[in-house]
Amino acid sequence: MWQRVTAVPDSRHCSIALPPAATPGTSPGRDSRIDRAGWVDCGAVSDQPDKPRRRPRVFSGTQPSGTPHLGNYLGAFRNYTAMQETHDCVYCVVDLHAITVRQTRAELRRNTIELANTFLASGVDPERSIVIVQSHVPAHSELMWILNTITYMGELRRMTQFKDKTAGAEGESIGVGIFDYPVLMAADILLYQADAVPVGEDQKQHVELTRDLAERFNNAFGKAFVVPEPIIRTEGARVMGLDDPTRKMSKSAGSAGNYIALMDPPDVIRRKIRRAVTDSGTEVRGGPDKPALTNLLDIYSVLAGEPVPSIEERYVGRGYAEFKTDLAEVVIRALAPFQERMRELEADKGYTLEVLRNGAERAEAIASRTLAKVRERVGLVPRP
Ligand code: TRP
Repeated sequence: MWQRVTAVPDSRHCSIALPPAATPGTSPGRDSRIDRAGWVDCGAVSDQPDKPRRRPRVFSGTQPSGTPHLGNYLGAFRNYTAMQETHDCVYCVVDLHAITVRQTRAELRRNTIELANTFLASGVDPERSIVIVQSHVPAHSELMWILNTITYMGELRRMTQFKDKTAGAEGESIGVGIFDYPVLMAADILLYQADAVPVGEDQKQHVELTRDLAERFNNAFGKAFVVPEPIIRTEGARVMGLDDPTRKMSKSAGSAGNYIALMDPPDVIRRKIRRAVTDSGTEVRGGPDKPALTNLLDIYSVLAGEPVPSIEERYVGRGYAEFKTDLAEVVIRALAPFQERMRELEADKGYTLEVLRNGAERAEAIASRTLAKVRERVGLVPRP
């Protein structure tokens, strides 16, 4: 089944006022199923064998660890929302991934619900898309075990993220979960027969491993999986830290001055932007020699929907301070509808739980079909 890939338009449901999202750059892998005319093979495995799938499917996961911030929104959640126009989407709060790093019970619970709410307040529509918590669908863990049996130690040891996370601590005290993390991610993706996986550059290697595992399984046991394509976020979506414009905005950065949390109140946003580092000089201008101003101008531009040159022109002869004051107001105004929606969601806990209950049910229906096929291919006797 072939499907035309179209540009991703801005979503009607997006609650942060924004110009159209950049079309995510697709990054065809080795045996790309995107042909030259831009058509994608949606895969032979349909979730409803009698009714062929009409749209390609997307799966993406986010860890519920730490505070969702502006970089997450512009780099990921905004795309989640936009992709609903062209794809059937499954968006997952990957709590089982998050526990590879020790979490407190209360924090894990709070972060899980907050992240689900963040998807919704960003514009993910739970009627069109499936929103789930990973641990609610046990098929993720079950498929992971089967994939473990065809995964090589060597290929996991070569993962850049594994090497980074364990640098200097190779040996005894690295959790097996950290090592096996990419196999759980592969299970997430393959369970839903996802055609496309939007991820940051840092996760591309994990999607490539997923492709290798899908092909290895299909070749060894007979076809059970769609081989997914990574969709790598465009450069413009990379928001850098306010206190260090050479590294991307991060919730695990040392200081809260690094990021703007999506729920930061206006006075906190004003203070963080006032304290953001700037480059030497006084001109409000971007460029390779001005990483800090480039980042601030990019944020302004994306949130106000105004091209950078036109902003630069308006600030000729005015200083950094005035620009930062205005930028803070742009950010506050852009986040206001999101924050209001979050407060509504927080006030109605039953609604989120209902979304997750319904999501798990719909997800389970797809996942159990894949798992049944996998078990059959492997030769596991069906439960009588
Ligand atoms: N590993 C991803 C990250 O840390 C999160 C993730 C888990 C994911 N499962 C996934 C992303 C499946 C995309 C698809 O960002």
